[in-house]
Amino acid sequence: MKNLDQQIIELKKQFIDALARVTTKDQLETVRLSFLSRNGTIAQVMETLKTLSLEEKKVFGPQLNTLKSEAQALFSAKQEELQASENAGKVLQQQYFDVTADKPGQLKGSLHPYTHVIEKIEDVFITMGFEIADGPEVETDYYNFKALNIPDDHPARDMHDTFWLDVPGLLMRTHTSPVQIHAMEHAKPPIAILAPGRCYRHEATDASHDFMFMQTEGMVIDKNISMAHLLATAQTVLRAIFDKSDLKLRVRPGYFPFVEPGVELDISCPFCKGGCSVCKKTGWIETAGAGLIHPNVLRMSGIDPTIYSGFAFGFGLTRLAMLTYGINDIRLLHSGKLEFLTQF
Ligand code: DAH
Repeated sequence: MKNLDQQIIELKKQFIDALARVTTKDQLETVRLSFLSRNGTIAQVMETLKTLSLEEKKVFGPQLNTLKSEAQALFSAKQEELQASENAGKVLQQQYFDVTADKPGQLKGSLHPYTHVIEKIEDVFITMGFEIADGPEVETDYYNFKALNIPDDHPARDMHDTFWLDVPGLLMRTHTSPVQIHAMEHAKPPIAILAPGRCYRHEATDASHDFMFMQTEGMVIDKNISMAHLLATAQTVLRAIFDKSDLKLRVRPGYFPFVEPGVELDISCPFCKGGCSVCKKTGWIETAGAGLIHPNVLRMSGIDPTIYSGFAFGFGLTRLAMLTYGINDIRLLHSGKLEFLTQF
């Protein structure tokens, strides 16, 4: 009797061990055949019941039945486990899809016109040794105005219709010029930066005005920087941007409190020979404000104007994008309209 007792325990252990080693459906079938089938070991032990006395049958019958049902339950659990991992494998296989496959009717993303013009202008400046700089769009009065030689009562503030925030002294930057100040505070000359970014003005919107637009600021500070450097840089860059080696630069006096002297830079119209709708039949297009950085600006940001000088320019990227792509309504640029965006 003892012997059968032992045998049942032993058999259960063997079955559990065998099941634990199973990793495939074939192995599971082998285990089923050797333990659970009609000729399997469990059935064979059951067979021996017949030879036992009634007393013994009462003891071992239930034990063997329990063994059989436990074994059956463990087997089913293993079977489910294998099936589940096979399914997971299939799902995983389906996840390896070909990202390059062309599916008809798929909507493809495209680059925004701003991205195109910014990439182009950044490339040109990077080849000339400029670094790309960035600054916050929420600015303080100091960076947007005061440090640029525009004190509280300065009339130039009227030209910048400003979005003031609820927090006193904070505003949405009206131009990218404040990045000049951040750059001067963070680095010692020589400095050469290009800082493209969004600007905001409290304006009524129409086809050519928007409350948000793109500019890029540029600045170079070193010893002996002169107007010649500004004009040579502007000409080289504008020729590269418009892909026109005979593009001409025209310089007019301009007033900006942060430069002295200040100039307005025009280019000969790259789209026509004798006048078109883009240049309004004048043959010239306004492109940038620029000048030599005012000594007050340098001094306020800790740069000695008796040792260093510099030039700065502000260039309208919104205007550049509109000119380049013939966009006739500025509001389309951030309309999010797919019919518009997918053209680029
Ligand atoms: N910040 C000026 C504007 O938004 C543009 C500008 C003019 C920038 C002259 C300059 C500059 O750096 O020198 O109207």
